[in-house]
Amino acid sequence: MDLGIQNKVAVVLAASKGLGRATAEALAAEGVRVIIGSRNREELEKTAQEISKKTGTEVVGFPVDVTDAMQVENFIVKAVQQFGQLDILINNAGGPPFGPVESFDENQWQAAFELNLLSTVRITRLVLPHLKKTGSGRIINIVSMSVKSVLDGSVLSTSIRMGVIGMAKMLADEVGPDQITVNNVCPGMILTDRIRSSGIKKELAAGLTEEEALAEKAKNIPLRRIGKPEELAALITFLASEKASYITGTTIQVDGGVVRSIF
Ligand SMILES: NC(=O)c1ccc[n+]([C@@H]2O[C@H](COP(=O)([O-])OP(=O)(O)OC[C@H]3O[C@@H](n4cnc5c(N)ncnc54)[C@H](OP(=O)(O)O)[C@@H]3O)[C@@H](O)[C@H]2O)c1
Repeated sequence: MDLGIQNKVAVVLAASKGLGRATAEALAAEGVRVIIGSRNREELEKTAQEISKKTGTEVVGFPVDVTDAMQVENFIVKAVQQFGQLDILINNAGGPPFGPVESFDENQWQAAFELNLLSTVRITRLVLPHLKKTGSGRIINIVSMSVKSVLDGSVLSTSIRMGVIGMAKMLADEVGPDQITVNNVCPGMILTDRIRSSGIKKELAAGLTEEEALAEKAKNIPLRRIGKPEELAALITFLASEKASYITGTTIQVDGGVVRSIF
């Protein structure tokens, strides 16, 4: 299937590794020129070079902390200068910590708000004027299955990301006339460093090896395995494409079936 996005330009945040990186790579493989952003310059530049080499498409990295308004503004200015246009925005960031509701103080709530909601609002506002010029802009927010189903310890993620869902739904309504689509994707358990460091913490603490811990987690997933970053990236790439031109305002999970709700 020709996705019709060759030579488009995408911004992918939080993309030196994990889901962001897989997304940048999948887009670049379709011929999309990509600007990636995350904090650690060395890792970012290495990732940009590796993806460029593998896909033969231009990929550049500019360091940015998505919680810093000034850095984000400079990042978008540089991104626009790089290729002269922006067609696709992939909002992504690191994830908030896991824990029971009563374990988080106000500072931690504030930090989660800035990392996972305010960053999305801020970047989207800056990119929108550029998407309006394209006649087929795309915004895709990486959120979490925790907006669809209770996930142990995910109160910060669930609460804050519900704001992203609300904003995306409003925005889909408002920018529809500009042919800009706005969608959210919800990873279930997908193997990245975040899962290795936080997602299986309890199992590792109980003495299981990483392999045993992941196998334990997989028992509750209908497909009986942890997902791969490229499996989320495939959906994002489709949503970013011309083929998804009539899909907007949706929130779709890529979770091996772990969200058990029917609607
Ligand atoms: N993997 C899953 O199964 C899963 C499931 C549900 C939801 N999610 C969510 O999906 C998102 C990505 O997760 P992941 O698994 O890909 O995580 P990851 O492997 O830990 O990668 C996180 C990426 O985000 C960057 N980053 C972190 N904080 C940042 C900041 N303040 N500004 C800019 N970049 C930042 C990191 O680079 P630097 O540290 O260099 O900045 C890195 O490139 C997170 O919000 C996570 O909660 C993941």
